[in-house]
Amino acid sequence: MPPSRLLVTGGAGFIGANFVHYWLAKHPGDRLVVLDALTYAGNRASLATAAGHPSYRFVHGNILDLNLVTGLLREEEIDTVVHFAAESHVDRSILGPDAFIETNVVGTHTLLKAARAVWLAGSGRPHRFHHVSTDEVYGSLAPADPPFSERTAYAPNSPYSASKASSDHLVRAYHHTYGLCTTTSNCSNNYGPYQFPEKLIPLMMVNILHGKPLPLYGDGQNIRDWLYVEDHCRGIELVLERGGVGEVYNLGGHNEWANIDIVRLLCRLLDEAFAQDPELIRRFPDAPASQGRLAASLITWVKDRPGHDRRYAIDAEKSRRELGYLPKESFASGIEKTIAWMLANEPWWRQVMDGSYRDWIGRQYGA
Ligand code: NAD
Ligand code: TYD
Repeated sequence: MPPSRLLVTGGAGFIGANFVHYWLAKHPGDRLVVLDALTYAGNRASLATAAGHPSYRFVHGNILDLNLVTGLLREEEIDTVVHFAAESHVDRSILGPDAFIETNVVGTHTLLKAARAVWLAGSGRPHRFHHVSTDEVYGSLAPADPPFSERTAYAPNSPYSASKASSDHLVRAYHHTYGLCTTTSNCSNNYGPYQFPEKLIPLMMVNILHGKPLPLYGDGQNIRDWLYVEDHCRGIELVLERGGVGEVYNLGGHNEWANIDIVRLLCRLLDEAFAQDPELIRRFPDAPASQGRLAASLITWVKDRPGHDRRYAIDAEKSRRELGYLPKESFASGIEKTIAWMLANEPWWRQVMDGSYRDWIGRQYGA
């Protein structure tokens, strides 16, 4: 098989950056072009180690720019788009939905139009448009409900999930109407290196290290199905290699946790890390463990997120059966790796937290 030529949108974000590192390591002969607008969530620092790779190119630009995208597909002879670029944070979508409609709906449609123009009307070359989506399009589960399968009806509840659902439908329509070769994956909550500290797991870690409140929404019993980000990247690789054109695949961790239990786990693991490594006391003097207190003393109940989905859980049986997909990382090993990465990469999270993050946290919780 000749090497592929990939356009990765949103490659400077959390999952996109992990995917770039994963792909360059596994497929060093492939061309990989990143297109990213570098919003608050995109960071060149997350791609620093990719920069020297001969097959890699970074383009600072917006997926809404049809001429740019069409030009890149032609000039780079792209045969595979892996589309991560999105506004991705539910709380931000509640405060300001417009950017979510622009990027997630109009932006995805712009990419589809460019792909159609170049691949169907133009070169006619074999191609794949892979759309990265979320389990949140399926809505919310009651405690005893079966997990979401690919046949679960869409019922998005937040502006974020509604915008992602819209983009999923556009991808489906471009396959059925125009014959574009598409695949879509709907994945559960990810965690791991390079995650922006506005999402639950890195936010709680950074707040523990600073001795700041750990804001739990509502009763803390909302459940998410957590997947280590590298397992998501492997799942996307399997969809690209073995997935059927026009098909949808659910990816998940079989790993349901209530928020309060995750936060308690992070508190315990960080307390233990401080007990084992006195250097951490010098580096993080405001952390509770540096002052003889338990991290769990920082847990703070705050008002619930409006429309807060109660439970997400993924049935990934189709992906297992058709692609051979199974997560490799256990939650214990994945969280351990994530904590080790956060402690070893303090300059990364300090840098990304400057600016918008501080404003954001200040507005939300008065911290
Ligand atoms: P992220 O917010 O960390 O990164 C998004 C990236 O997209 C950033 O680099 C940003 O600069 C870029 N971007 C935003 N608007 C853009 C635009 N108009 N043009 C070009 N680039 C733009 O997001 P993430 O958590 O890495 O999520 C990536 C994808 O995976 C999203 O589509 C998201 O819906 C999906 N997803 C995320 C999760 C999760 O747990 N994080 C789970 C399932 C699916
Ligand atoms: P988040 O990481 O924002 O992902 P999503 O909303 O897309 O699932 O939130 C995960 C869960 O954690 C969700 O139930 C909301 C909750 N949460 C808190 O309780 N406090 C917080 O500060 C954040 C960011 C999230």
